[in-house]
Amino acid sequence: MNIVLGVSGGIAAYKAPDLVRRLQDAGADVRVILTPNAARFVSPLSLATVSGHGVILEQWGDPDKGGVDHIELARWAELLLIAPATANLIAKLAVGIADDALSTYAVAHRAGIVIAPAMNTSMLLHPTVQQNLAVLRARGIDIMEPDEGLLACGDEGAGRMPDPPILVERVQQHFRARDLQGRSILVTAGPTREAIDPVRFISNRSSGKMGYALAEAAQRRGAAVRLVSGPTSLPSPAGVTLTRVTTALEMRDAVLQNLASSQIVIKAAAVADFAPVASSPRKIKKEDGNELTLTFRKNPDILTAIASASPRPFVVAFAAETEALEANAREKLSRKDADLIVANDVGDASIGFDSDQNEVLVIARDGTTTKIERAPKIVIANRILDLVVERLPQ
Ligand code: PMT
Repeated sequence: MNIVLGVSGGIAAYKAPDLVRRLQDAGADVRVILTPNAARFVSPLSLATVSGHGVILEQWGDPDKGGVDHIELARWAELLLIAPATANLIAKLAVGIADDALSTYAVAHRAGIVIAPAMNTSMLLHPTVQQNLAVLRARGIDIMEPDEGLLACGDEGAGRMPDPPILVERVQQHFRARDLQGRSILVTAGPTREAIDPVRFISNRSSGKMGYALAEAAQRRGAAVRLVSGPTSLPSPAGVTLTRVTTALEMRDAVLQNLASSQIVIKAAAVADFAPVASSPRKIKKEDGNELTLTFRKNPDILTAIASASPRPFVVAFAAETEALEANAREKLSRKDADLIVANDVGDASIGFDSDQNEVLVIARDGTTTKIERAPKIVIANRILDLVVERLPQ
């Protein structure tokens, strides 16, 4: 992988040396271009040392050497990653301004481009920035969604540059074969909600992140993806057909409706096992009594219905366990008649439910067990899909 890493002048530029190292670990040769402002946040010497190449800071090549640096580099490069991309740089890319080494290179570059916008939330949401991003997206540039969290200015919100492992995963995605091209995949994600009365429900802590990551990864690998999602606050991954549901019964109906057209089904949703037998049509008042007794009925098992369908899709189940992870997952794999089961320890607050990371054990029908070490959910999603692809009938 021949990668040009462009770094513009935002605080996230300090992550550039770590990013270079991780790209190299993934097999990339990396050349770095810094804008003058980026060079105030990160030292060119650090980047030259980790990359093993001189860092390009100037628009003009060495007059003694001859040749045009940015044109030669563009012949070599297979991908341009700009991380972080500031509002200023994004504006230059949108209109083609070439007034420093990075913006000039971007105009000469002919291969794919990935950018990771990073800035304060109000700048990110400014109509000009959003308009410029829309222009770049329409041009086929891959724009990464900024993370949410505490920003360098002290504000809380969207605008953080994704961490280096997530950037590396996105770069690798551009080099990965579209090995799910022509496949149709149905993914379920998120929790279900079961109403107690018009204002209360029972649910669980699923955020949908694991399922949405699987949908996004499968779509990028060429699959036609339908995502059936319980209530979450996540945006729909680009290019994925999203069906939103609330209850387990609605999820079952949406899955069964789309089953015949799905070759692979991945059930990452945390479906409520039980629902109140009857939901009160009016808000239950505390004045109604000192105790409240609810009676629950079991929800139908969606996986069992999928596995007995004909023709039967390739089925990936999940197992959320707090103890005896492997033994319980093996039992579920056989009871639910799945092809693969992905087991995660939801007793560990740093993975599983509502975390950006996961760590899973994948058990196949033939008993093969693969441990996928702790990583961002998008990385875990791609590893799971690798295991699916290996086992798909041709
Ligand atoms: O959404 P996140 O915050 O990212 O968290 C991810 C996750 C922890 C929810 C996910 O990784 C996960 O483990 N999903 C499965 C949760 C679950 O319901 O596990 P389970 O062991 O209770 O169920 C086993 C399997 O049966 C699951 O594939 C489930 O979708 C399916 N099931 C369960 C009940 C039901 N009525 N019908 C089903 O099909």
